[in-house]
Amino acid sequence: MGLSENKPWGGRFSESTDQFVEEFTESVSFDRELAQVDIQQSIAHTKTLLKAGVLTTEEAQKLIEGLNQILEEIKKGNFQWKRELEDVHMNIEKELTNRIGRVGGKLHTARSRNDQVATDERLYLKEQIEEILNLLKDLRRELTKKAQQTVDIIVSGYTHLQKAQPIRLAHWFLAYREMFVRDTQRFLDVYRRLDSCPLGSGALAGVDFPLDRFYTAENLNFARVSRNSMDATADRDFLLEFLNACNITMLHLSRLAEDLIIWASEEFGYVDLPDKLCTGSSIMPNKKNPDVLELIRGKTGRVLGDYVALSTVMKGLPMSYNRDLQEDKEPVFDAIRTLKGSLVGMKKIIEGLKPKKDRMEENAGNLTLATDLANYLVQKGVPFREAHHIVGSLVAYVVQKGKRMEELTLEELKQFSDLFEEDALELLKPHVVADRRITYGGTAKERIKEQIENALKEDF
Ligand code: ARG
Repeated sequence: MGLSENKPWGGRFSESTDQFVEEFTESVSFDRELAQVDIQQSIAHTKTLLKAGVLTTEEAQKLIEGLNQILEEIKKGNFQWKRELEDVHMNIEKELTNRIGRVGGKLHTARSRNDQVATDERLYLKEQIEEILNLLKDLRRELTKKAQQTVDIIVSGYTHLQKAQPIRLAHWFLAYREMFVRDTQRFLDVYRRLDSCPLGSGALAGVDFPLDRFYTAENLNFARVSRNSMDATADRDFLLEFLNACNITMLHLSRLAEDLIIWASEEFGYVDLPDKLCTGSSIMPNKKNPDVLELIRGKTGRVLGDYVALSTVMKGLPMSYNRDLQEDKEPVFDAIRTLKGSLVGMKKIIEGLKPKKDRMEENAGNLTLATDLANYLVQKGVPFREAHHIVGSLVAYVVQKGKRMEELTLEELKQFSDLFEEDALELLKPHVVADRRITYGGTAKERIKEQIENALKEDF
């Protein structure tokens, strides 16, 4: 036996591992996160080995009992992780042998850590995606609820962060909801594609024992079996797709956070954020800061960083497994933690958010009513470009007089075009203008109700 006798791979070595190398190469400090799925996988592998005639029933039972015991300890937090055993896989295997004796050494028959780690990661992501889907559902529900409560609040819609046209506030909540619907679909898509079992691929070439890989996949609840053992051990597309889905979801959360940060400012004053979700300043007694929203916006950078980090690791890796791939885990764990926290935070914010109707409505009308006055003239036969020009002069007049559009009289309107009649004055009401947006998906009350109906029907 070589000098690295404590290592499962110590046989061919004649020096013990340099301390630095032990520290530099270990992954157990973070990949212990995979412990539960690793044991789940080892139990399935044991069953496949039994089916292949590699183990006796008694041996398989011993292995499974030992693994279950270790699992209980890990769950309770009593398991002793050892850095010198490098990673989660070797920690568990070594402990198993300590407990049940030589037969523990049979567990790793016909398996490499290369197909093992790829299988763990897929199992782990399936669980995590399910949790993320639930959090996304909670957030979407909250947005729908808020939309139901705000159908009758009119607020200005913005383009270029300049007031554009009046909309129903519900429309804004539903717009963000659409983004989270797409995110949900994206995660479902990632899930379906990664639902394929690499175990049985060995180190890269497959294994020389008659393993029934379809039986393994079934025991682990995978929908499919990977089709090429080299690709199965070298591929991390599923992590990149997952990180990208996290990244896009964070971008959406960040945009929502940004809107709310602006809306909560004194200058806008459109919303009140709940005190319990804000923080104060250590020097300015007047401050109530939207830190949760700011951190969601800020943490979006981390998650993009996680995606870029792994993309860069993958670029230029020769076939098939390379140790670089160990660097795939920390970005993924970081993105998961960050995304889940941000989804929880945003849900709480939306839940506690109080729209300030008066302030919104006071800001909603005025010049944003201009488009409809132009369209009024269009309906009377004026070409749109001419109507645009006429109403442009009207806007200049209102600005110069220091008036609001709502205050215009019919006489004033007539100074700009004698086609204006009494009914044009109706168009100087923001809610009337909003309700003229009747195209499918528009902000008219009936259309908004339709969108809410659809939202309530969706179940994923
Ligand atoms: N800790 C390793 C990883 O995360 C496990 C696979 C190691 N394989 C190897 N051939 N050294 O990638």
